[in-house]
Amino acid sequence: MPAPSAVPPPTARAGTCRTGCNPTGAQATGRTVATALPVRHRVRFVPGVLDPANPALARAGGPPGRRLVVVEARVRELYGRLLHRYPAAQGVEHETLVLPVHEQVKTMDAVFRVADRMDSSGIYRRGEPVIAIGGGVLADVVGLACSLYRRSTPFVRVPTTLAALVDAGAGAGATTGVDHGRHGNRLGTYHPAADTLLDPAFLATLDRRHLGNGLAEILQVALIKDGDLFGLLERHGRALLDEGFRGSHRAGAEVLTRAVRGMLQDLQPGLREHRPARLTDYGHSFSPTVELRALPELLHGEAVCVDMALTTVVAQRRGLLDPEQAERILRLMRRLELPVWHPLVEPVTLAEALADTVRHRDGRQRLPLPAGIGSGVFVDDLTDGELAGAARWLRDRAAADRVREEHEGREVRA
Ligand SMILES: NC(=O)c1ccc[n+]([C@@H]2O[C@H](COP(=O)([O-])OP(=O)(O)OC[C@H]3O[C@@H](n4cnc5c(N)ncnc54)[C@H](O)[C@@H]3O)[C@@H](O)[C@H]2O)c1
Repeated sequence: MPAPSAVPPPTARAGTCRTGCNPTGAQATGRTVATALPVRHRVRFVPGVLDPANPALARAGGPPGRRLVVVEARVRELYGRLLHRYPAAQGVEHETLVLPVHEQVKTMDAVFRVADRMDSSGIYRRGEPVIAIGGGVLADVVGLACSLYRRSTPFVRVPTTLAALVDAGAGAGATTGVDHGRHGNRLGTYHPAADTLLDPAFLATLDRRHLGNGLAEILQVALIKDGDLFGLLERHGRALLDEGFRGSHRAGAEVLTRAVRGMLQDLQPGLREHRPARLTDYGHSFSPTVELRALPELLHGEAVCVDMALTTVVAQRRGLLDPEQAERILRLMRRLELPVWHPLVEPVTLAEALADTVRHRDGRQRLPLPAGIGSGVFVDDLTDGELAGAARWLRDRAAADRVREEHEGREVRA
C-alpha cells in the first residue's frame, strides 16, 4: 500500500480553499507587539504655590519657558492678583485662558475651547506643559484636552478645591473626562498630570458646602482603608469644616496627608484600572447615576456620601459592621453636614445604577463594602431586595434625623 501523502497546511494549498484562507498560497504572517509605557506623575504638597518667590510652579513638568495657563473663572476672580504677579516674578512667558466651567458644562465643547487655545498659543508639544488651576471639573476638562491634543501633551495641575486636592491622589489624578449622554465621565482617558502641586491655602476661600463635599471624599478613604483617619475626622472634622482647614493646623495637615496617601496607595498598582477591584471605588457604585440624575442638586462628594450611607446599611445588615459602628458612620456624615439619603435612592434607580456599574466592572458587581471601620471587602451577590430594604431603612432614618435636627433648631439637608 502506498504511504499516505502529507497534507499541506491549509494556507499553503494554493487555489483550493473556499472561505477564510489565502488563495495566493502565501503564508499569513503577523506579530503581536506588547509594550509597557512608563508612567511618571508626581503629586506633592507645595504651600505658597503662587508666592512670586516660589519657583516650583514655573519649573513643574518641564524646563522654564512658555506656558498656557487655564484657570477656572471663580479662581481667577479670587486669586487674580497673585496669578498676574507670579509669571512676571518667575520670568514665565504665558497666556491665560479663563474658563467658567462647572458640572453642567463638563462637555466636549469645553474641551474644544481648551484645544483651540492650545492651537493658537503655539505651545510646543512636549516641553511646554499646560497649567490647569481650578477644581476637579477644570482638571478633568483640561486633562482630556491635553491627552487628545497631538495625541498627548503634558499638563500640570494645581487643585483649588478640597475634593480636587484629595482626588489628585486618586483615580481622578490619573483620569480625565467629560459627561456624555446620561452618564458622568463617560468620555475620558488615562492621562495623569506630569506634576500636581497641592496647596491647602486655596481652601481658605472655599464655601462651607464645597468643604463638606471634599470631606466626603476623605471619609471615603477613612471608611474603607484608614480607621485612624476616621478617628481624626470624628475628633476634628467639624472644626475643619467650620474653619476651612485654617485653624486646627496639625489635624488639618494630617487629615490631608493621610487622605492623599490612601488614594495614591490604591492607584499605584493599577493606574489604568486594569485591576478590577479597587477599594477607592467605594462610594462610586451607585453615585455616578444618582449624581447625574440629580444634577444640579447633589455635588459629587454628596452623591458619594449617599452611596456610602446606603452601603453602610447593607454592610451592617450583612454583619460586616456592628450596629454601633454603622451608627458612628451615619452620625459623622451628619456632623459633616452631608446628606445620607436622596429621593433617587429607590429600587428602580438603584437597580439601573447597579446594572451600569456591572457593565463598567466587566460583568461583575465587585462592590466594595466596609468591613469594620477602616477596611473593606468586595461582594458579588448583592440582590435587588437587599438594596430596596436598605434604601427603605435609610429613608426612614433620614426622616427621623430631620425631625430631631429640626427640633434641635439645626438647618438640615436631606
Ligand atoms: N475622574 C474621576 O475619577 C473623578 C473623581 C472625583 C471627582 N471627579 C470630578 O471632579 C469634579 C468635582 O470637583 P470639585 O468638587 O472640585 O468641583 P468644581 O470643579 O465644580 O468646583 C466647585 C466650585 O468651587 C469653586 N472654586 C474652585 N476653587 C475655589 C477656591 N479656591 N475658592 C472658592 N471657590 C472655588 C468653583 O468655581 C466651583 O464653583 C466632578 O466633576 C467629578 O466628576 C472626577
